Amino acid sequence: MDIENNPWFQLPLLLLCFCLCICPSLGADTIAANETLSGDQTLVSSGGDFKLGFFRPGNSSFWYVGILYNKVSVPTVAWVANGEKPIFDRFSAQLKISDGNLVIVNGSQSPVWSTNLTSPGSSSVKAVLGDNGNFALMDGLNSSQIIWQSFDHPSNTWLPGAKLGINKRTNTSQLLTSFKNEEDAAPGLFSVQLQPSSEYYLWWKMTEHYWTSGPWDPKAKIFSLVPDMLRNYIYNFSYVDNENESYFTYSVDNTSILSRFIMDFSGQVQQLTWLEGTKQWNLFWSQPRQMCEVYGFCGPFGVCSESTDNFCQCLHGFTQTSPNEWNLSDRSGGCSRTTNLNCGNNTAVNSQKDRFHTLSYMNPPGDPQTPDVGSEKQCEAACLDNCNCTAYAYEGSICSIWMGDLFNVQQYNPGDSNGKTLYLRLAASEVPDSPKKNNTVIIAGSVGAAAVAALLVIVLLGAWRWRSRGGRTKSAEGSLLAFGYRDLQAATKNFSERLGGGGFGSVFKGTLPDSTIVAVKKLESVSQGEKQFRTEVSTIGTIQHVNLVRLRGFCSEGNKKLLVYDYMQNGSIDAHLFSQESKILDWNTRYQIALGTARGLTYLHEKCRDCIIHCDIKPENILLDTEFCPKVADFGLAKLMGREFSRVLTTMRGTRGYLAPEWITGVAITAKADVYSYGMMLFEFVSGRRNSEQSGDGKVHFFPTWAAKKLTEGGDLLELLDPRLGRDADMEELTRMCRVACWCVQDEERDRPPMGQVVQILEGVLDVNMPRVPRSLQVLADNQEQIVFFTESSSSGQSSQAKSNTSTASSQSKSTTSMNSNTEAGMSWGHFD
Ligand SMILES: *[C@@H]1O[C@H](CO)[C@@H](O)[C@H](O)[C@H]1NC(C)=O
Ligand SMILES: *[C@@H]1O[C@H](CO)[C@@H](O)[C@H](O)[C@H]1NC(C)=O
Ligand SMILES: *[C@@H]1O[C@H](CO)[C@@H](O)[C@H](O)[C@H]1NC(C)=O
Ligand SMILES: *[C@@H]1O[C@H](CO)[C@@H](O)[C@H](O)[C@H]1NC(C)=O
Ligand SMILES: *[C@@H]1O[C@H](CO)[C@@H](O)[C@H](O)[C@H]1NC(C)=O
Ligand SMILES: *[C@@H]1O[C@H](CO)[C@@H](O)[C@H](O)[C@H]1NC(C)=O
Ligand SMILES: *[C@@H]1O[C@H](CO)[C@@H](O)[C@H](O)[C@H]1NC(C)=O
Ligand SMILES: *[C@@H]1O[C@H](CO)[C@@H](O)[C@H](O)[C@H]1NC(C)=O
Ligand SMILES: *[C@@H]1O[C@H](CO)[C@@H](O)[C@H](O)[C@H]1NC(C)=O
Ligand SMILES: *[C@@H]1O[C@H](CO)[C@@H](O)[C@H](O)[C@H]1NC(C)=O
Ligand SMILES: *[C@@H]1O[C@H](CO)[C@@H](O)[C@H](O)[C@H]1NC(C)=O
Ligand SMILES: *[C@@H]1O[C@H](CO)[C@@H](O)[C@H](O)[C@H]1NC(C)=O
Repeated sequence: MDIENNPWFQLPLLLLCFCLCICPSLGADTIAANETLSGDQTLVSSGGDFKLGFFRPGNSSFWYVGILYNKVSVPTVAWVANGEKPIFDRFSAQLKISDGNLVIVNGSQSPVWSTNLTSPGSSSVKAVLGDNGNFALMDGLNSSQIIWQSFDHPSNTWLPGAKLGINKRTNTSQLLTSFKNEEDAAPGLFSVQLQPSSEYYLWWKMTEHYWTSGPWDPKAKIFSLVPDMLRNYIYNFSYVDNENESYFTYSVDNTSILSRFIMDFSGQVQQLTWLEGTKQWNLFWSQPRQMCEVYGFCGPFGVCSESTDNFCQCLHGFTQTSPNEWNLSDRSGGCSRTTNLNCGNNTAVNSQKDRFHTLSYMNPPGDPQTPDVGSEKQCEAACLDNCNCTAYAYEGSICSIWMGDLFNVQQYNPGDSNGKTLYLRLAASEVPDSPKKNNTVIIAGSVGAAAVAALLVIVLLGAWRWRSRGGRTKSAEGSLLAFGYRDLQAATKNFSERLGGGGFGSVFKGTLPDSTIVAVKKLESVSQGEKQFRTEVSTIGTIQHVNLVRLRGFCSEGNKKLLVYDYMQNGSIDAHLFSQESKILDWNTRYQIALGTARGLTYLHEKCRDCIIHCDIKPENILLDTEFCPKVADFGLAKLMGREFSRVLTTMRGTRGYLAPEWITGVAITAKADVYSYGMMLFEFVSGRRNSEQSGDGKVHFFPTWAAKKLTEGGDLLELLDPRLGRDADMEELTRMCRVACWCVQDEERDRPPMGQVVQILEGVLDVNMPRVPRSLQVLADNQEQIVFFTESSSSGQSSQAKSNTSTASSQSKSTTSMNSNTEAGMSWGHFD
């Protein structure tokens, strides 16, 4: 929305007069048969929730007629009429009723969009914008006779009360279609549609479906493959299936919560709630979780990687087809060859054969052709002989070749055992000379390079010494070091050894000149000003506790913002808890980790000068030193990131299972949100598994519910224990831990103990009575038939299979957040303003 140019905001008095005199429809919710809407005029629904008018998304130069949320300060579109045919001049264009149809005409009175009714109603029709966001054309005398409504023609948003389903009589369906990108409301590639089998599909170009919700289970009131719905208790879905239609609709229990369900242009379906405090839409649910699972996400010849921040890159030998669209986060146009293939070009002077470029650790595209050949050489030849063939792979004596555009190539991390080798066909000039010659070049080259590198290191070290004496790395406020960017580049060998990363940036291993090993976090898009950034960093720098990771220094040079932390040899606890390969953590170690973590959090919440809420407690953020002493990582990022923080948090992956319900409902976050996340994590300490897992057969496993029931019903708690511990645990400690965990995850914040009490309980200083099963967990218990809980006999094969589904998601986000609190009771989100 072009707020700045909107005279409503600049000259309210003048405009008020202007409007009273000239435009009777402004401010009303209705367009009558003889009225028009143009320029800056808007309709506002009776309760003021929605408005309708001309808008343009982002910096687009086109205008659309659409419905926007009226009480939300970020322009947010709920519906768009003329997505395919935008308008250039909104002052000459008009929305009006013509011959019983709603139409938009451009300056030459030429129709741009129409409701296209074949048997329009009487001449007395009117169009009314309802407070539910529905724009309806109705009989002017009898408003219950709806002739046409926007609810039946949704764009990318599914509003509460609208249907998303199939009309069996007309054989049409309401489907959500993504916008093309941030600035273009034209229909994009992705859609969500109800199938006759009562499950939703996500479609790419309506030809390939890449995600399904699984069929509706009327008893459990969930879609069988969407276990998350169980925790999503602000939406009340209902399913209607009769001879005329089958559809879903939903309501939001709490009318003070503003929520929307969208098909995003990224290819994810998302649920968001409006947080007035931060003035942001908070993403609390999305599917598919992994961006790389979206079909064609990086377009043809793009390669998707979950461990890079923008996900998409072009394959070697290709460049972005439309850089403009890539800049608008729309990569679906993919990549194009920098050099045409030689194959099939008869005019080629030098008719060199095409060559193959080797790509390692790839997830190749689906649906290859598999010619029956006996060797890798023949497989290569099979591809080379067909000018349409763009890649081949040879694995386990199976030859796979791919024709035409390559979609859905995914890059795994080096060393990933799922990775396959893919050979990409390129023009000869794009691939270095034949391997034989290459070998000698490489060997000679690497010897030379090694010598040069050694020399460089010597020079660099010299330079560093010189610099640290009088140079750029100098002591800053308190004990923090202010590093130069080049110093950190050198320390991390140009950021070559990645330890992890998430929404806030990647973490790299580095070695300082004095041989101290450090972890260097490269922050992305910090929106703080320089002075404020330094102030916040120095505040975090003063926070020191044996159970908190220590910040040693930082770098701030223009856009380059980095944090330097102590390096923790034993990594994060998730690797020890959930990995089959790692050594099992015995009970005592787990208990001490739980206690240490609680002490670290208590310090953050209660003991330091400015109270800090972490906001992202999960196993990935609990690091272990050589002695397996736990250290809470990444506190204090919220203030540091400034406005960017909430944007990143809302799009972060792998955090959901630990988020307290208040994150979803959008009330102010207090330290009790950390207590909830901590409780969820304790359950995982006990079981040695992720709390919520979906196994290959689509069954949902939710450990906390089973544990809470067992606890309250007085069952054998040792059955809850990680089977790998062989029932070897201190019974009293186990009981305490389970009770504390269950208290921590209570629905109401006031029922959760403060972190200080958790420490006392775990220390055995304070007794803890029997908790009750939280309502949100009880809901799951009531649907036990649909949910298979872990039992001791559940095979580890099954759970490890499920794990492989979820582990990548969670290992992604290492990011964390925290924020200051003015009052003891909690903090408001208003700090970011
Ligand atoms: C629109 O039509 C109604 C009824 O036909 C009439 O009362 C009203 O004055 C008209 N408004 C304009 C702006 O012509
Ligand atoms: C519009 O463009 C300006 C300058 O190019 C940029 O700062 C701003 O972020 C853009 N706004 C949106 C919504 O993309
Ligand atoms: C209106 O649309 C018609 C048909 O697309 C086009 O020829 C004409 O130039 C447009 N007029 C304006 C003012 O945009
Ligand atoms: C209305 O019909 C025209 C011509 O058949 C078509 O181009 C246009 O897409 C239709 N509009 C809608 C909203 O269906
Ligand atoms: C309005 O339309 C509804 C539904 O078609 C009908 O039941 C009702 O009798 C109508 N009311 C009047 C006043 O015509
Ligand atoms: C409805 O449309 C689909 C394709 O859009 C078609 O396969 C199906 O046969 C149609 N069903 C009826 C009853 O017309
Ligand atoms: C959910 O919606 C259905 C249908 O609108 C309604 O009957 C039911 O009472 C609602 N349930 C809750 C918990 O609000
Ligand atoms: C289906 O549509 C017919 C005709 O409009 C109507 O008579 C019938 O009541 C409808 N059935 C249901 C279940 O709504
Ligand atoms: C509805 O949500 C608001 C804020 O999001 C909260 O204050 C209120 O308690 C909620 N009401 C109910 C009935 O849950
Ligand atoms: C895309 O963004 C990059 C960096 O933000 C900029 O350098 C480049 O010029 C942009 N390209 C286009 C086509 O806008
Ligand atoms: C064929 O090769 C010639 C010379 O190498 C080149 O100029 C031309 O663009 C190529 N044509 C195609 C269709 O690739
Ligand atoms: C190559 O692709 C084109 C277009 O899809 C097709 O017409 C042609 O038959 C294909 N050639 C071979 C050898 O497969």
